[in-house]
Amino acid sequence: MRKTFYITTPIYYVNDVPHIGHAYTTVAADVLARYRRLRGDDVFFLTGLDEHGQKVQQAAAKAGIDPQTHCDRLAPQFKNLWQRLNISHDAFIRTTDAAHKTIVQRYLQQLYDKQLIYKADYTGWYCTFDERFWTEKDVVQGQCPDCKRPIEQISESNYFFKMGQYQDCLIAHINAHENFIRPESRRNEVLGFLQAQKLGDLSISRPKSRLSWGIELPFDTDYVTYVWFDALVNYISALEYLVKDGNGSRFWPATIHLIGKDILTTHAVYWSTMLMALELPLPQTIFAHGWWTVNGEKMSKSRGNVVDPNQIISELKDHDPFRYFLLREVPFGQDGDFSHDALIGRINSELANGIGNLLSRTLTLIERNTSNLIPTPSASAETELEAELRQACLELLNKQLPETMERLEFNRALEAIWRVIQLANQYVDKTAPWNLAKNPKDTPKFHTVLYHMAETLRILALGLYPFVPDTAKGLLTQLGMLELFYTNPFSPSDLNWGRLDSGIPIRKGRHLFPRIESKPQGAKTVSEPTASPQPTSTVTATTAAATPESQITIDEFQKIQLKTALVLSAERVPKSEKLLKLQVDLGSEQRQIVAGIGKKYEPEQLIGKRIVIVANLKPAKLMGIESQGMVLAAGDKDVGGLMTVVEDVPAGTKVK
Ligand code: MSP
Repeated sequence: MRKTFYITTPIYYVNDVPHIGHAYTTVAADVLARYRRLRGDDVFFLTGLDEHGQKVQQAAAKAGIDPQTHCDRLAPQFKNLWQRLNISHDAFIRTTDAAHKTIVQRYLQQLYDKQLIYKADYTGWYCTFDERFWTEKDVVQGQCPDCKRPIEQISESNYFFKMGQYQDCLIAHINAHENFIRPESRRNEVLGFLQAQKLGDLSISRPKSRLSWGIELPFDTDYVTYVWFDALVNYISALEYLVKDGNGSRFWPATIHLIGKDILTTHAVYWSTMLMALELPLPQTIFAHGWWTVNGEKMSKSRGNVVDPNQIISELKDHDPFRYFLLREVPFGQDGDFSHDALIGRINSELANGIGNLLSRTLTLIERNTSNLIPTPSASAETELEAELRQACLELLNKQLPETMERLEFNRALEAIWRVIQLANQYVDKTAPWNLAKNPKDTPKFHTVLYHMAETLRILALGLYPFVPDTAKGLLTQLGMLELFYTNPFSPSDLNWGRLDSGIPIRKGRHLFPRIESKPQGAKTVSEPTASPQPTSTVTATTAAATPESQITIDEFQKIQLKTALVLSAERVPKSEKLLKLQVDLGSEQRQIVAGIGKKYEPEQLIGKRIVIVANLKPAKLMGIESQGMVLAAGDKDVGGLMTVVEDVPAGTKVK
C-alpha cells in the first residue's frame, strides 16, 4: 500500500483579494505535494475558501451585493492566482458548498447529542476582524490584543462547546507527539498557554439577528455556527465529497496542516479539542510558518504596501522565480522581509548566474561539438573531479533533499541544490572542456566532462522540480529528457547516476533563467536574452589594444563612456582565430561586439560574465561584422585577461 500524504492550507477569507501571505502557504503546500508525489506517495492536497462570517457579510454589504454573489465574484481571484502560480491542488473547497454545510451540521448535531454543546449567556469583547471573543483581561485600551482594532462589548445567549474539559488530554497529546506542533518554538508557545491558564469553553454560535451569513445550527434555527467551527471542519468534510475516487477516509488523519502563526491557537487548541470530542484522530502535524513584512514594515492596506502576487508574476513574466524566492529567502517558520531588491538578487545570482550559466555552457558545448547529441562518457577518462561531482549529486537526491523536505526546511533544501550548482560550475572551470575540444586525443575526457555536466543538470532538474516545476521541465526538455515526467513518480534509476542516455539529441531552446535588471527609478524589467538580436547600428570593435602613452585631461577622459555589460552569447567569427562575436546586455539595450579575444577565451567560457565595455565608441566593421563597442582587457599584444566586475552590479552600470 502506498503511503498517504494529506496536506492542507488554511481556507482563505474571501473579504479581499489574495496577497503574498496567501501565496506563501499555498506555494509551500504545493512544493510538498509535488515532492511527495514524485517520491510515490498517495497525495491529497486541499486548499479553498472560508466564505462565512461577519467579515464577508460586511464586505458584501459595502459592495452593495448579497454575500453569496460577493463570494462568487472573489473566488475566481483565488483560483486564477493558483493557476498562475502553478498550484497542483487536488481539490478546492468552499464553505458555501452544500455538502460542506450538511457535514458541519451533522458534526454539530453529534456533539449536541453527546451533550458536549450547551446554551449559556455570555458577555465578552468581540473583534470582528479576527471573528473572536476576548476576555476582559485580554483587552488593551479597548483594542483587540491581536490586530489592535477597536472591539465591542457584546452580551448574548450562545451555544458553547465544552472545550475546557479536554485541556489535560491536549497537553498529554502534545507532550507525547513531538511533531504535532511545529516548529518547536510554536509547540512551546501552545504548551505554555495551556499550562498557564484554565482552558474555557468555546462559543460556537452567533444569533442570526447579529450575523445571518453562516450555517444554521441544526438544533436551533435562530443561530448560525461560529466561523471557526464551520471553517476547521473543512479539513474533514472535503474528504467526504471532494476526493475523486470516493475513498477519502484513507487520508485522515491529515499529514500536515500548514498555517500561519496567527492561527495557531485555533488549530492547535480549538480544532484538536473538536476532533477529540468527535472521537477522531488528530492531525500528525500542524506547522505554523512566519509572516512576511515589506521593506521592514507590517503589510497592510492602510500602509498601501500589500504585496500582490499577480503583479509580481506579471513583472517577472514568470511564476517560478517568485515561487523560488518565497521558499529560498526565509527559513520556513520564521518571519521574513520582502523587498524587490532581495527578489531580484536571488533570481540573478542563483537562477540566472548559477544554473542558467551551467545550462547554457553545457548545451552550447554539446551543440557545437557533439552534433547536438549527449555524448558517451568513458570510465577510463575519469578523475576524482567526476567522482566528487557524482557523489554530491547522489547525496543531494538521496540524503539532503529527503532530510530537509521531511523537516520542511525548504531554504536548506534549496541551499543544498545551490551548492551542487556551484560545484558543477567549478567543475567546468577546472576541467575547461573548451580546451579538451581542441585536441582529438582528449575526446574521451571531453565527452566524459560533457556527460557529467548534462547528467548533473538532469539531477538538479529533479531536485528543483517541486519548487520550480515548469523551469525544471524546461531544463529536462532541453536535455532531451522530458519523458522523465511521464514516468511520475521517480523510478529508482531516476535517483541514480547515469539515467541520462547517451546519444539522445538535446533540444536547446529559450533561455530559462533571464536576468532581471533593476532600473534606478525602481522599475524592474526582465531581459530575455535572445539568440540573435538585430544590430541597430554598424560595427566597430576592437580588441584590447595598446594606446600610446600620453597625458589626457579629465574632460577628455570623461568623454569615454565605460559601462558594465553581461555576455549573453558568444561565438567564433568564421575563418578568424582571434575574433569572437558577443551579444551583450547593457540593461536598457543589447549590443553586438566583435572582440579580438578568441585566442585567450573559448566562447562558452564567456557566457554570463560581467565585463566592461567602451559604450560610446563609433561603430565599425571587423571582417564584415558589425561591432558596437569595445571590450576592455588587460594585456599588450596578447590578451592577458578580460576586465570583469567582482560585484553583481546591474548590466549597464557606468564605470568611472
Ligand atoms: N479563514 C481563516 C483560516 C481558516 S483555516 C480553517 C484565515 N484566513 S486569512 O485569509 O485571513 O489568512 C490565511 C492565511 O494567510 C493565514 O495562515 C495567515 O497566517 C496568512 N497570512 C496573512 N498575512 C500574512 C503575511 N503577511 N505573511 C504570511 N502569511 C500571512 O485566517
